[in-house]
Amino acid sequence: MDLSNVPGSRQELTKEILELKKKYNAVILVHNYQLDEVQSVADHLGDSLELSRLAAKTSADIIVFCGVHFMAETAYILSPTKTVLLPEINAGCPMADMINPEQLKKLKEENPDAIVVTYVNSSAEIKALSDYCCTSANAEKIVATLPANQKIIFTPDMNLGAWITRKRPDNKIIWPGYCPVHHRLLPFEIEEKKRQFPDAVVIVHPEAPIDVLKLADAVESTGGMVNYVQSLPSGKFVIIGTEAGMINRLRRVRSDLVYIPASPDTVCSNMKKTRLSHVRDSLLFMQHKITVPDEIAEKARRSINRMLEVG
Ligand code: 13P
Ligand code: SF4
Repeated sequence: MDLSNVPGSRQELTKEILELKKKYNAVILVHNYQLDEVQSVADHLGDSLELSRLAAKTSADIIVFCGVHFMAETAYILSPTKTVLLPEINAGCPMADMINPEQLKKLKEENPDAIVVTYVNSSAEIKALSDYCCTSANAEKIVATLPANQKIIFTPDMNLGAWITRKRPDNKIIWPGYCPVHHRLLPFEIEEKKRQFPDAVVIVHPEAPIDVLKLADAVESTGGMVNYVQSLPSGKFVIIGTEAGMINRLRRVRSDLVYIPASPDTVCSNMKKTRLSHVRDSLLFMQHKITVPDEIAEKARRSINRMLEVG
């Protein structure tokens, strides 16, 4: 990594991180919403699915996961022999806390014929009670593998659930959880931006409400957004309906496009908690180790592996 263009104290931190990473044979996985300073030390940048796949197959001894708690937990479930570190222990996902195991157990008892599909933004306990895990990149594909008349329980995101089951009007129970960041996107904000920039293409994350998704040209995971912009002509205006930091990530791959946030309010404070100093400290002090009890990890791994097998 060339450090000549990295500013002062950030240069020092970056240098320390690179040395520690080498010393401990660590890999740094960074979610697309992370701060730019954290993205700059990533071995891999990606969405939940891409980073899960990388965590499952890495040969590193230590995985430093710069994201939120459920992501590090998923990495541990897939690679239980590795040390998985979450640099900022308070980085959680409010949506993942919107359902607890007792609630899901009750729903399953009431609907013994249902198949449970759970979004990766959930706790290990909820994944362990589920048949399939999914991410925003593959949820639609996973539901499409189930018979048309199969009863489905989808947890915990009601927006993603409504979107991917829109062609299945019956036999579905969708848990009323949501992402507080995407849930506040409103149709009028997209309509207004489209009026201002009539030639723009609109890309929205499927955690947004369905009325917003219907106005989009493309509904994509964060990794899907990175792929989508690759083929756009230079100078194209792109309206982005997701966490605001995604625009930095997209600029890394296509700085020649003009990005317009659909809303000024879409900042995930949890994704912004991790700083470069936390990444350095995580390797220096081996903190914060994320683990899952064997019995839960084993069951959760089944639902995650089923997802990885579907593609
Ligand atoms: P992606 O898997 O699309 O990166 O989404 C994760 C997330 O938390 C979005 O809010
Ligand atoms: Fe959770 Fe939403 Fe933040 Fe993603 S953007 S981590 S779903 S709160």
